[in-house]
Amino acid sequence: MTEWWRDAVFYQVYPRSFADGDGDGQGDLAGLTARLDAIAALGVDALWLTPFYPSPMVDGGYDVADYTDVDPRYGDLAAFDRLLAAAHAAGLRVTIDLVPNHCSSEHRWFRDAIEAAPGSPERARFLVRDGRGPGGAQPPTNWGSVFSGASWTRFPDGQWYYHLFDPTQPDFNWANPEVAEEFERILRFWLDRGVDGFRIDVSDALIKDFDAGDTPGGHPVIPKGASSPLHEHYRAFRRVMDDYDGDRMAVLETGAPAEEVALLVRPDEMHLAFDLALTKARWTAPALHEAIEEGLAVARLSGAPATWVIENHDLPRAVTRYGADVELSGEYVPETEHEDAGGPDLEQGTRRARAAAVLLCSLPGAVYLFQGQELGLPEVEDLPDDVREDPVFHRSGGTTRGRDGCRVPLPWEGSEAPYGFGPEGSAPWLPQPEVFAGLRRELQERDPGSMLALYRELLTTRKAHTVLREGTLEWLAAHEVPGGSAGDVLAFRLRGAEESAVVVVNTGPDVVPVAPGYLVSSSVPRAALAGGLPRDAAVVVVEPTSDQENQ
Ligand code: NOJ
Repeated sequence: MTEWWRDAVFYQVYPRSFADGDGDGQGDLAGLTARLDAIAALGVDALWLTPFYPSPMVDGGYDVADYTDVDPRYGDLAAFDRLLAAAHAAGLRVTIDLVPNHCSSEHRWFRDAIEAAPGSPERARFLVRDGRGPGGAQPPTNWGSVFSGASWTRFPDGQWYYHLFDPTQPDFNWANPEVAEEFERILRFWLDRGVDGFRIDVSDALIKDFDAGDTPGGHPVIPKGASSPLHEHYRAFRRVMDDYDGDRMAVLETGAPAEEVALLVRPDEMHLAFDLALTKARWTAPALHEAIEEGLAVARLSGAPATWVIENHDLPRAVTRYGADVELSGEYVPETEHEDAGGPDLEQGTRRARAAAVLLCSLPGAVYLFQGQELGLPEVEDLPDDVREDPVFHRSGGTTRGRDGCRVPLPWEGSEAPYGFGPEGSAPWLPQPEVFAGLRRELQERDPGSMLALYRELLTTRKAHTVLREGTLEWLAAHEVPGGSAGDVLAFRLRGAEESAVVVVNTGPDVVPVAPGYLVSSSVPRAALAGGLPRDAAVVVVEPTSDQENQ
């Protein structure tokens, strides 16, 4: 099969929280390998593993100290090879995280840069500048870090280095060819081992324009557009990947507007780019419509498939997000401002997360799921401050809760913590709430009404009906189909070579008619559809063939 990634379903594993094989409270590669069956049974095509490289773990492993090894807490390279072989044997491809924007301050290159003199080749691998004002005591620009605070920190000799994120995450200097060569070596290291692809962190921000100087609000200046050297770097990555057989791929993490993203997924650059708009959209038909349009626009402009996401390790869980009914304030600030209103309504959130699952699995292109999404886990909002690890929490002085709440170790089986995450008696690195008992995988496997059962059905249906993966999407208005888009209803037709399907999502309080056709997916039991499509529900029907012939 060629270009398998065009309509694949990827399952994001956060290794530290998936399964703990050795009982130290932290997930590991052996634990993951032992639990691969559960992922295969879900019906996904590939895994994406967030970083498992040696790291001081200031930013959950996105502070990489060595790009070509495995952190001892997760195992070693032999454990990675065993995981890869087992995944391939189970029919799962394996993609891994590449973090090219920055490394850890524990990386050998940065240790060397600290020791080396200003102007040395060691410093030239990072974004190093002299400061402004008397004694160079003022940072080179007023730019702020994504994780709050300044984005410049001083070397002991007074020079400044730039970090878009935490001070322990120094940014590489991509204008230095040595950096590009090093990343080519890293890509080849993992491609030689047999990985099927990469997810590229902070993919659109590798180049900064410090000449732009101070900016209002201290926003960094990141050159965009077709002329940015960024494209040359991705073309070079692509050439490396194309040297290998087996259709290796990469997906970009980017929050850039569609026109920018489309440039990065041209045929000689990278393969996919997340549409993160859907992770931020409120539960209203116009907001969902707009977010889907964003992904489709990239596809129309570039020819690359759209790539859909509703959850990842940086965002509050969907069940809580939809239960709280608030807009997210922005990247890495997963604040849900519902506390005054008495907390999220998790019943509503679960209803909507089920409908969102039907929508997600019926969108043409590639789909990413985050571990625990298939269990309908809520955000763990009441973690004690002293167990929180996210630098977003610490650097904001505790005013932003940060991302630990979606990273809590998964519940597998048993009625008490650690719910099979690790051996009995072991203490997971973040405490699991009691509500996880009722959401453990073992229970959901036996319950046809569970979120897990829904995801399994949806992925089976998606496999069986090509139109759900590859169809052309046309929005439907209310007069075109019963329950067509109007006010609270979102509806579209997917047109394929062999059949067409209609997807209807009811985000409002009123029951709406179900479009005619053969029902293939529903977020509510069939019996609940007798009077029409209830609030916060979604269905997919395959249209009668005669209907299609008439068109
Ligand atoms: C995006 C990653 O998803 C996030 O977890 C991380 O903190 C930042 N990039 C910085 O690497």
